[in-house]
Amino acid sequence: MSETTAASQFHEAPDVRAAVDTIVSRLEMVQKGIDSARPPREASVETLDGWIARSTATKGRGPIFPYVGSGIGRGPLVELLDGSVKWDLINGIGVHMFGHSDPGMVRAAIEASLGDVAMEGNLQFNAESIAFAELLLEEANRGSSLSHAFITNSGAMANESGLKVCQQKTGGRPRVLAFEHCFMGRSTTMAQIGDSAGGRVGIPLNTHVDYMPFYDPNLGARSIEMAVWHLEQYLRRYPDQHSCFIFELVQGEGGFNVAPREFFLPLMQRCREVGIPVWDDEVQTFGRNTEMFYYDVLDLGEYVDVVAFGKMSQACGCLFTEALAPRPGLLSGTFIGSSTAFSVGRAALNRLRQGGYYGPTGRIAEMHAAFRTHASALVDRRPEWFPEVIDDFGRPLADMVGGTGGMCRLTPFGGRKDAMVKLLDVMFEEGVIAFYCGHGPFHLRFLPPVGVMEPQHFEPVFEIVERAMARVADVIDS
Ligand SMILES: Cc1ncc(COP(=O)(O)O)c(C=O)c1O
Repeated sequence: MSETTAASQFHEAPDVRAAVDTIVSRLEMVQKGIDSARPPREASVETLDGWIARSTATKGRGPIFPYVGSGIGRGPLVELLDGSVKWDLINGIGVHMFGHSDPGMVRAAIEASLGDVAMEGNLQFNAESIAFAELLLEEANRGSSLSHAFITNSGAMANESGLKVCQQKTGGRPRVLAFEHCFMGRSTTMAQIGDSAGGRVGIPLNTHVDYMPFYDPNLGARSIEMAVWHLEQYLRRYPDQHSCFIFELVQGEGGFNVAPREFFLPLMQRCREVGIPVWDDEVQTFGRNTEMFYYDVLDLGEYVDVVAFGKMSQACGCLFTEALAPRPGLLSGTFIGSSTAFSVGRAALNRLRQGGYYGPTGRIAEMHAAFRTHASALVDRRPEWFPEVIDDFGRPLADMVGGTGGMCRLTPFGGRKDAMVKLLDVMFEEGVIAFYCGHGPFHLRFLPPVGVMEPQHFEPVFEIVERAMARVADVIDS
């Protein structure tokens, strides 16, 4: 920012800098008291219950668990309005990768809040949204030809934008290729593409989706042949009718399902040959694996035409290549996003770029390994809680412990939904917040704050998980 502007005089004024320092150091002092999970404080239980009732009244339905944050935490620990402290291993479904009240993120938020407006728009914007988009493109450019960014408020809107870009490029082709069990968000179109029957109840179906089988580790190379065969069949049945193939390289909501490069490669190559744009939805994978973009983990960057990102970046968006750049009028909207989101998002991404997080021996890989060590030890210790899991098509689950990077899953109680819901409730009560994923089997899903969590934190977390499983095992079949 120019030193001649009134804004920089304000932001850089010694008393303003000192005030920001004071707030951040007071926060660090208060945080010291938050060092492990703890039960509610008697006097505050009513406060939390009251807010939950108010939330239920405004939304017209109750929450999944009685969570209302007090507004403070310390890394993976969060304080709720009843004074309880819990290990937060789901983080707004992958948003708070640096946990709660991280001093660096709070500082970035305070600095952004000094601006003249809270929201930047597509007509009038400040520098923060430009710097945010530049940073994303700089990272994307390292392994792909993605050259432009359209920033949005949600992952669903990033995907809507990506779809429109693909449709315009292909002259309005009506069909979309997608994998079984995929999830793209909850706009009317994304709810139709996402492979979840419950997510599209009551939505008129006006998007033509051709579903592809996802990778099945039980079948290995045969799974790859089957997928290629399916693709050929659709191409023959509907020549020149597909605007894009949407790839979710690690399926998030679908169950943290992974596939090797060899599975995606022939599909992407075939799309390239027949002129079908490849749209990669990284909304959930972004930032939290052994590379910032998962296409870099699999070395597939040369094939991606459109990429959606979101969640841990605080603001979302869609990146596309020059060849896919849309004509004026296709992408816009009142808001780009909040200055605070851009500032905190940039602080998070810059911290990740500073080194030590990515690569096969980086912090994120180390955290995943720590999760696996604890989860596998639990499976070995209590095999009766981990019976064989068979899906609706008779296929066995290859491993009770799964996922990759900062996407971790564990499958107790045969992957039964009722057991998983009960377990999540009891874990919450005992002090660990997690969620489920999958459509049957259902898995315990963890999106730990891998930016700030330490491997040894899994010890108290797994003590609580084990205690909760013991309680649930006693009641689920009675
Ligand atoms: C892969 C994927 N795409 C898109 C979305 C939608 O993002 P949002 O909820 O921000 O609209 C999600 C959200 O979970 C997701 O996991």
